[in-house]
Amino acid sequence: MADAPVNESAYQTDALIAEDIDAYLDQHQHKTMLRFITCGSVDDGKSTLIGRLLYDSKMIFEDQLAALETDSKKVGTQGQEIDFALLVDGLAAEREQGITIDVAYRFFNTEKRKFIVADCPGHEQYTRNMVTGASTADLAVILVDARKGVLVQTRRHSYLCHLIGIKNIVLAVNKMDLVDYDQSVFDKIVAEYGEFAKSIGINNFTAIPISGFKGDNITTAPSGNTIWYSGPSLVDHLETVEVLGSHDAQKPFRMPVQWVNRPNLDFRGFSGLIASGAIKPGDAVRVLPSGKTSTVKSIVTMDGDLDEAMAGQAITLTLQDEIDCSRGNVISAADAPPQTADQFETTIVWLNDDDLHVGRAYWLKLGTQTVSATVQQPKYEVDVNTMEHLAAKTLELNQIGVAEVLTDKPLVFEPYADSRTLGGFILVDKITNATVAAGMINFSLRRSQNIHWQPTDITRESHAALKNQSPRVLWFTGLSGSGKSTIANEVEKQLNLMNRHTFLLDGDNVRHGLNKDLGFTEADRIENIRRVGEVAKLMTDAGLIVLTAFISPFRAERQMVRDMLAEGEFIEIFVDTPLEVAEERDVKGLYKKARSGQLKNFTGIDSPYEAPENPDIVVNTVAMTPQEAAEYIIKTILPLKSRIQA
Ligand code: ADX
Repeated sequence: MADAPVNESAYQTDALIAEDIDAYLDQHQHKTMLRFITCGSVDDGKSTLIGRLLYDSKMIFEDQLAALETDSKKVGTQGQEIDFALLVDGLAAEREQGITIDVAYRFFNTEKRKFIVADCPGHEQYTRNMVTGASTADLAVILVDARKGVLVQTRRHSYLCHLIGIKNIVLAVNKMDLVDYDQSVFDKIVAEYGEFAKSIGINNFTAIPISGFKGDNITTAPSGNTIWYSGPSLVDHLETVEVLGSHDAQKPFRMPVQWVNRPNLDFRGFSGLIASGAIKPGDAVRVLPSGKTSTVKSIVTMDGDLDEAMAGQAITLTLQDEIDCSRGNVISAADAPPQTADQFETTIVWLNDDDLHVGRAYWLKLGTQTVSATVQQPKYEVDVNTMEHLAAKTLELNQIGVAEVLTDKPLVFEPYADSRTLGGFILVDKITNATVAAGMINFSLRRSQNIHWQPTDITRESHAALKNQSPRVLWFTGLSGSGKSTIANEVEKQLNLMNRHTFLLDGDNVRHGLNKDLGFTEADRIENIRRVGEVAKLMTDAGLIVLTAFISPFRAERQMVRDMLAEGEFIEIFVDTPLEVAEERDVKGLYKKARSGQLKNFTGIDSPYEAPENPDIVVNTVAMTPQEAAEYIIKTILPLKSRIQA
């Protein structure tokens, strides 16, 4: 089994941002921090509001201010007054051109707190940006234009923030100056929003009437224009709202292990960030997924050993016993461990231009764990504007759906509702390394807990030894009519003469039996190859040399089969026949049918073929007959005789 790469590049932008954040925190360590997100479009006055917050907290530097005043006079929309939106919009416009996941983080601080605000574009096509920004936020400011009230986008933003688990919602009814600071307008919007909020599970929110432009109820409240308002100003609220993270200290102890710290033979510590709970030397802990227990010997930090550590602290734990524990494991309270499972119901937000490929293996990264995972066909997709459940075969960019996820190894997890750290994950494309989705675990599926691997006495090694050979998979790939079956058949005959124990799995034949329920959609082809891969793996366990002849058009699935097998066991043979040649031959008459439109999704015509980038062997069927190709293959693998022969 190939190991998951340590894919640090996927979130490179966020890593850079994290550096900025760290630098910022170093300077303001003594204050508590609030991360929040602003939701709304430029029309709602979002940029003006953020500009105002930066201005009022004196986070705009003198030269920027001078430039702002000049620009406001030149191009501003607010007459002689300062147009705060200019401060933010220049950046926003630039950003919204790009399609990369990209959220602008701004830092400011007041007497009482420091703030990190994620400013995300509001349109539906930027759902993924919002999800990225919301994923680390403690609070969301949902902006509403007082003249327009609750709009489709208000609902969408609220739904997304709630989905991502933001517990503190502020409904900022902006532009109160344009409705004459009329209390009844405010009350009506609050009542309408309240009803909607309740329907999606938001039970509490704080509504504040503001004018980002005029400054009403931004830093002090009530403003002279809203004497009827008895609540806090926006800044007061941001400064005093309780950040729910502090509750994490009351939960059972969990620390995902980031790395094993072993500078010399005398010291072995497990480093990580405490996700929840507290820990003291002498506490009993359990390492998951193994379930092994031990006791905490010491809590080591840069500033010396600690008597106690809590959620949010980065520490190194040493244990009394030498137990197995590595990166990705979770150290937890011995009597209240999190669950482990390999099948889940999840909610997934698709973040990539390339749709979800049902059944394809992606890397799933949850905290410090990385496993291989496949997503099943979604149970439904959620319309982010109406919250309706719609039938779905896949998920496209910005779509949200509920789907089962299967992993190749057990994951230590908690439902997302209980823990963002142990319940939230991302999916990474194995070939492009792009982050394609963000997901939340709703719950594990019980069936996964009732099936256990059964060890058997006759091992794969004994099967192979009896046959006096090393198992291999000779994986032929190429277009329909390229000559895979013919050449594979020749190779098998020759191996047979050499007393090798072989078996040939052929696309057309397997589709008559095991895979007769599958057609030629992308999802069916992925499932076809997954099953063939599993069968080939079982056959190598039985000690056989397996030959497979499937178009197997996608790189990802060929890679998946390679990863399923032992190192060096998979030999990819590209039967490199150009489309024109295969079509000219048209042995089965299928190209003609495909060209005339009688056959849909035909490989090379209206369904893609991704040629191997690094095949182990390439055969050119224009220059070689099938016999010559077979001889060439045998000759190429024979020097690896030691590989084929035990
Ligand atoms: S794969 O794409 O899923 O790997 P597989 O090798 O099993 O395909 O099956 C391919 C064979 O099915 C072809 O050789 C051809 O005989 C037949 N076939 C029927 N319809 C199609 C189609 N739409 N695309 C490709 N092959 C097809």
